[in-house]
Amino acid sequence: MNNELIKNFQDRFQKEPGHIFFCPGRVNLIGEHIDYNGGSVMPCAISQGTYLAVAKNKDKRFRFHCLDFPETADLHLQESYSRTGKQWFNYPLGIINHFIQNGFTISGLDMLFSGNLPVGAGLSSSASVEVLTAFSLNSLFGSGITLTDMALLSKKVENEFMGVNCGIMDQFAVAMGKKDKAILLNCDTLEYEYIPFETGGYSLVIINTNKKRELVASKYNERFAECALALTFLKQKLNVENLCDITPASFDLNKQLINDPVLQKRALHVISENARVKDAAIALQTGDMEVFGKLMYASHQSLKELYEVTGKELDTIIDFCNGHEECIGARMTGAGFGGCAIALVKNNKVDDFSNDLSVYYQKEIGYAAGVFISGAEDGVREIER
Ligand code: GLA
Repeated sequence: MNNELIKNFQDRFQKEPGHIFFCPGRVNLIGEHIDYNGGSVMPCAISQGTYLAVAKNKDKRFRFHCLDFPETADLHLQESYSRTGKQWFNYPLGIINHFIQNGFTISGLDMLFSGNLPVGAGLSSSASVEVLTAFSLNSLFGSGITLTDMALLSKKVENEFMGVNCGIMDQFAVAMGKKDKAILLNCDTLEYEYIPFETGGYSLVIINTNKKRELVASKYNERFAECALALTFLKQKLNVENLCDITPASFDLNKQLINDPVLQKRALHVISENARVKDAAIALQTGDMEVFGKLMYASHQSLKELYEVTGKELDTIIDFCNGHEECIGARMTGAGFGGCAIALVKNNKVDDFSNDLSVYYQKEIGYAAGVFISGAEDGVREIER
């Protein structure tokens, strides 16, 4: 990847890239649709991600190129920028805009991006590009901001510049990832803890549904609004800030405050999923992968029945996993409605599992799934050339 990137950079800009940076994507191990409800999530960064070859220029221009998309942009340094359409370079442009608007001194850059994350597959390719750009600007211009700040400003760019209502999980995970660790993140306070994710005899398998995802943002925003509404009903009696401040026992006693059965289901998912994250953390800390796997299956079931964000493709994968002894846990990961699933599979059975799953998926769904393996990896960083 690096050699191709460097060669392309030389061809396009007629000079050497000064630096190469990398930011991974992420999977969420458990705790889905929790971050915007003030609870705890447990993501980890993965091996696949986005690279940036970059050099400063003297003519105060930001040049955006990418090996994976044909569109380029060449913009003069100015006081602010706004989003132009849906092209990929709006993500780094949003970060540049944020730096300028917040008074950081930055200047012209020639940039060539390239990634090996499937785009739009729910592995946070957009958070990866955002945090990658923030990290690079911070390194090149000495802005002096922390990784947590980079995650926060990247979320702000996603919310305000790109117009997507996401929580903090993705940006935090790709900024703060650590090898062989899961991140237990409290999305209300941003307190976090690294938990060993040493899967021992099991591999973390990522399965891409390859489903063409449509309307994900609007369905995501719909769930976001449903949770906010469910909370207003519960607040009539309970003194809480977030849905995740409510325990399953307290919810059981007070659920009749929500008179809409759909909203009741949404709230039940959120509150029970948040409790599962706590149990999952204990399972990992005690090295009990079997219990961890069962919690993954329970999480998927809740996302399917109560939160209704899975769909035929993801459910087909999880049903297959459930029927296979060598797979001790599986669930969708990310926003849902397609995207990816993750599974914990016995190391020496991964090849058989992947082959059988591929055949089954193709037969049931009519097109191929993508299957690959990843460990828990480090977050954003500079790469030695
Ligand atoms: C997307 C969002 C995250 C999070 C997940 C669901 O990945 O970007 O903030 O809400 O969905 O857990």
